[in-house]
Amino acid sequence: MFEDERFITSTKMLGDSELDNSLRPQTLNDYIGQDKIKSNLKVFIEASKKRKEALDHVLLYGPPGLGKTTLSHIIANELGVQMRITSGPAIERAGDLAAILSKLGPNDVLFVDEIHRLNRSVEEVLYPAMEDFALDIVLGKGPGARSMRLKLPPFTLIGATTRAGMLTGPLRDRFGVTCRLEMYTPKELAVILKRSAEILSVAIDDRACMEIASRSRGTPRIANRLLKRIRDFAQVLGEGVITSEIANKALILLEIDKLGLDFTDMRILKTMADKFGGGPVGLDTLAAATGEESVTIEDIIEPFLLQLGFIARTPRGRICLPAAYKHLNIPVPKALREQLSFFDTENGSENE
Ligand code: ADE
Repeated sequence: MFEDERFITSTKMLGDSELDNSLRPQTLNDYIGQDKIKSNLKVFIEASKKRKEALDHVLLYGPPGLGKTTLSHIIANELGVQMRITSGPAIERAGDLAAILSKLGPNDVLFVDEIHRLNRSVEEVLYPAMEDFALDIVLGKGPGARSMRLKLPPFTLIGATTRAGMLTGPLRDRFGVTCRLEMYTPKELAVILKRSAEILSVAIDDRACMEIASRSRGTPRIANRLLKRIRDFAQVLGEGVITSEIANKALILLEIDKLGLDFTDMRILKTMADKFGGGPVGLDTLAAATGEESVTIEDIIEPFLLQLGFIARTPRGRICLPAAYKHLNIPVPKALREQLSFFDTENGSENE
């Protein structure tokens, strides 16, 4: 199945941008969760404003849908500056980046989504821009080529990525602030849902908030998307109010189980358990056996299964853990149980 056909994918779907925009908090105080990141950013933002300088470059990383773009909008808003938005794959040539950089105002924010997908020639232009606020332009070709340095206004680059490990060392080193966004707890998601329901003018009770929150894979984007769909069910099946009964009925109809897993997650787990005896199984082998792409498994499906403690990554591949077997309602095979006790005693924290 293609990832964009899944209802609970954390990647953006058609219609999400409008949804994200209408529900997006504008200030750090309205932003729920990620408390450590928020309190650090508050200090850095206030300090840079006091000094009347650009905020240091910020790298935001973590699984999709956790609010990297939202946080960037908030940073620019709190700084009182303009934000320009682009993405790694959209900047094809060094000249494209030069054009974007030369349009920035003093202390503005440049947001580069999927920054791990920048190509090398573009990255080379970015280094002096980040470090010295300068654009090095090469005039002419061959032995007669000369380089000219243009001054840029100070600016803040905010880079967002789901894959911090794919950033080159020199690029990573140029960020002064690095924030890893964590998955949200159901309680935090319930508060986000309450706030979103208010903005969408839909009545929802606290139990329904918790019901949806605990089935949203720790991801605000999924929680908000579910809220909009369940609102439809409430209007058609009920009196327009989202109660926990309506939420539960709707989630069953949407084929999302008690933990927020759908058929794609279950297929991955069942394949690991049935075809590979619980693993270890390599990522590419698992992808071939399930018909999913390796990157989809690694970036989108796997983070939540890891978070649930359903699977683990070992040096020899992915393994299914006892909690997953319990959810699948099948006993843990003896060979896997022995392997797991080996990991417990010998390599307790042996993750890739
Ligand atoms: N909407 C999406 N993410 C949010 C967050 N972290 N806080 C408040 N509202 C949100």
